[in-house]
Amino acid sequence: MRRLACPLAAILFLAGTPQLIATDKPHIAFDFGVKAPQSSTEDVGATNTGTLDIAGRSTPMGADIERSFNYTTLDCTRYEATFSQIDQDLQYSRKLGISLNSTLYMSARFGGVHMRGLTVGFFGGTAYLLTPTDFRNLSHHAPLHLAYMRMMMHLESSFGAALPDVAFVLTTSDTPRYVSPLLVNSTSPRSELRSYEPGFVPGPYPVCGIGKSDFFPDLLLVPNFHFHMKLYDQTFLATIPEFNKIAWRDRKPVLFGRFSRYRTNRVSEDIFTYKAGAKGRRICFNGNRTCPLRDYFINKIVPKDPTRMDVSFIGRVSMMRHSHYKYLAHLDGQGISSRLEQLLSLGSLVFKEASGYYAYYYRSLLQHRVNLVEFWRDDEVDGPEDVLRELDWAEANDEEAARVAAEGQRIAATYLTGNGRTCYWYRLMHGLRSVLSYTPLLSQWPEAQPLRLVVEQKLLETPGGKEVYDAPWAP
Ligand SMILES: *[C@@H]1O[C@H](CO)[C@@H](O)[C@H](O)[C@H]1NC(C)=O
Ligand SMILES: *[C@@H]1O[C@H](CO)[C@@H](O)[C@H](O)[C@H]1NC(C)=O
Ligand SMILES: *[C@@H]1O[C@H](CO)[C@@H](O)[C@H](O)[C@H]1NC(C)=O
Ligand SMILES: *[C@@H]1O[C@H](CO)[C@@H](O)[C@H](O)[C@H]1NC(C)=O
Ligand SMILES: *[C@@H]1O[C@H](CO)[C@@H](O)[C@H](O)[C@H]1NC(C)=O
Repeated sequence: MRRLACPLAAILFLAGTPQLIATDKPHIAFDFGVKAPQSSTEDVGATNTGTLDIAGRSTPMGADIERSFNYTTLDCTRYEATFSQIDQDLQYSRKLGISLNSTLYMSARFGGVHMRGLTVGFFGGTAYLLTPTDFRNLSHHAPLHLAYMRMMMHLESSFGAALPDVAFVLTTSDTPRYVSPLLVNSTSPRSELRSYEPGFVPGPYPVCGIGKSDFFPDLLLVPNFHFHMKLYDQTFLATIPEFNKIAWRDRKPVLFGRFSRYRTNRVSEDIFTYKAGAKGRRICFNGNRTCPLRDYFINKIVPKDPTRMDVSFIGRVSMMRHSHYKYLAHLDGQGISSRLEQLLSLGSLVFKEASGYYAYYYRSLLQHRVNLVEFWRDDEVDGPEDVLRELDWAEANDEEAARVAAEGQRIAATYLTGNGRTCYWYRLMHGLRSVLSYTPLLSQWPEAQPLRLVVEQKLLETPGGKEVYDAPWAP
């Protein structure tokens, strides 16, 4: 397995500077200025030195978290298996503590329109937008931001005062926009910090996003906004009986997939997301920041066995039609792709490209040949061509393949529900609160506005806002 190389420790900020306004691609800037930040390593949380038991804290703790009425109503304990990712994502923040300064810094830098970010929080059980947004300027990210705003409002109505006071940045970009400079060495995390621009405030930061790799240890994964916008429970989970009307034996033993022409974005130094073609062949370009994985697979691998693989860029095919095939291909988009959770619901066997990028449920739920099949597992050996071996396996073990497919559908139906995702958010908010090294107060955010006001008034007053407002949404 791959290991994190040490020199990464003193890492970089992606972008952050105005050149990102016009583009979604991350840029990297090394050697930002010179000033070494003050280091004061606090061991927050883990040993309970008292830093966290800040006087005046009024939010629920420990077992109280589970005592909220809706925790039981939503059956949150059922989703326990997925919460392990929260602990993973918080492990460094737990050690180092998240300060108000790092939160303000991150908010100013990444929590605004130009970085597809929004700064939000809960105070006294009410959801707030903490810094102003500009729906017009967000362009196609406006509906995505709205989807998350509605989710914050849903949390407010579901949990109210049981929510902890927290402030954080939420981003809708496909891949993370920063790398924690404290890429961590758990023995003495801050010791490896080199130097950064003046005014720099070190992390860890409270930033939530849809996908990451291990190169971004402190990013807090949250369920994808597409779950809400595509009405996942209704459109996919509730349709499972329909999908299942096509029996396994009647599905074509062909690997099927239709993709839009996205190329995968990555940070050059991110060893976790590097992909190569067959026999290590280099397919990434632009300093390894762009990898046309879909193009490569479709143009170079599929032609090797077109009778068994029907994967292409051409034509849109309904999900119902996807279920006519036994095997369904999944390839990364710019980063993770929300197509995965859709495919899992169909009852076919999902062939997922092994990827360093992951979403909130991948690590806790997905397992090779248990609930899906992974391919393109080893760049050094045959790279994406292992898909042929996996197809051989599936054909030779048809009953087992059917079981794995059914298990994929079962985990989607069991864990990826609206309730499950609401519970995940709720637990994440409490997790986040437990690693803050300061007392969050609404007065720290002078421009804060209740999200309800932002959505019900400001958005509707924005030209074009009504259209965004009227888009379907579900928890
Ligand atoms: C927080 O940042 C401000 C200015 O950015 C600085 O003056 C102050 O010392 C910082 N506080 C801490 C605890 O680092
Ligand atoms: C978008 O925001 C940037 C700065 O964040 C500003 O310079 C620009 O004028 C804004 N564009 C529109 C159309 O509002
Ligand atoms: C539980 O959640 C529902 C749906 O969000 C909400 O309407 C209801 O008021 C909540 N109940 C309590 C006691 O908070
Ligand atoms: C962590 O940092 C300390 C001090 O710089 C160093 O001695 C140690 O080898 C590092 N550990 C790892 C696992 O990198
Ligand atoms: C891209 O990554 C490969 C594999 O790690 C490496 O050999 C190559 O030098 C990299 N190219 C650039 C331009 O960084």
